[in-house]
Amino acid sequence: MSMTAGRPFRSVLYMPASNTRALAKAATLGCDAVIVDLEDAVAPGDKDLARRNLKDWFSARDAKPAVTIIRINALSTELGADDLSLARSLEPEGILLPKVDTPRDILEAGDALDEEATPETTKLWAMVETPKAMLNLGAIAELGRDPASRLAGLVAGTNDLAKDTGVLVTPDRRYLLPWLMQIVLAARAGGLVALDGVMNEFRDLDAFGRECTEAAAMGFDGKTLIHPAQIEPANKAFSPSDAAVAEAQAIVETFALPENAGKGVISLDGRMVERLHLAQAERLLARAGRA
Ligand code: COA
Ligand code: MG
Repeated sequence: MSMTAGRPFRSVLYMPASNTRALAKAATLGCDAVIVDLEDAVAPGDKDLARRNLKDWFSARDAKPAVTIIRINALSTELGADDLSLARSLEPEGILLPKVDTPRDILEAGDALDEEATPETTKLWAMVETPKAMLNLGAIAELGRDPASRLAGLVAGTNDLAKDTGVLVTPDRRYLLPWLMQIVLAARAGGLVALDGVMNEFRDLDAFGRECTEAAAMGFDGKTLIHPAQIEPANKAFSPSDAAVAEAQAIVETFALPENAGKGVISLDGRMVERLHLAQAERLLARAGRA
């Protein structure tokens, strides 16, 4: 199994690679993964500094958390190719491609990794943050069915989506929701991890907790974060609740009863439960065990 398969991705914290104080904390924070950013969180004048910091940080292995994803600049920019070359040489668990428009963008990055004999444990992740990516989402996610593509997950880029489409971002995200749901659907079709976009108002942890709860209900595996204070609420919201675990256990135990052997459908507390619910319950228990 790869480092990515079966892992929790409840809380995935962005850190600008230009911020050494943030990088120094990475290994001690309780997030499931970090995204070290070379792209939009780094000012144009700090790009070289950011690359140097990233390299230093990787060489000090103890400072590195278990799952590190590096976000490079888009391959269509003059920074992209060198970023990709540096990132792959560090052999992180993931490389996150911004501004993906088409499946070709992912295939090209994958080819570059293969040419340099990058270990297959380095996966690719795609930002979904352009109108074109939204329209090509099915074809992009389909790459997840081919392990050779390395595609492991989709990350909603809600700030860029709002900028490029002109939708108004309201506290309830009503105009973004159809696209977010589409990202979850595509991720499931492709067997990919689905991460929700960031919440910019990082001091309002009550609102953040509500947004996480909603994202979990929408089917996201986790949320991308911008501040360490957001880790705990995200971990909580994306871990199965005690009630959900108890219900899953009841389903597993009831199907295991001798009188239910070989039955496709049973009755539990006045509710129909099918074998598909058993599979769902087993997945939830596995997720709870990991969390
Ligand atoms: N990762 C790790 N540590 C972080 C962090 C992050 N994303 N954001 C803040 N911290 C650290 C700070 O370094 C600070 O530590 P220090 O006291 O040792 O210096 C501590 O947490 C408290 O920070 P705080 O003062 O509350 O926040 P700030 O005003 O310094 O920074 C932001 C606020 C939003 C600028 C900052 O959190 C940030 O840069 N976030 C990431 C942005 C990003 O990557 N965006 C790209 C994707 S959308
Ligand atoms: Mg973006």
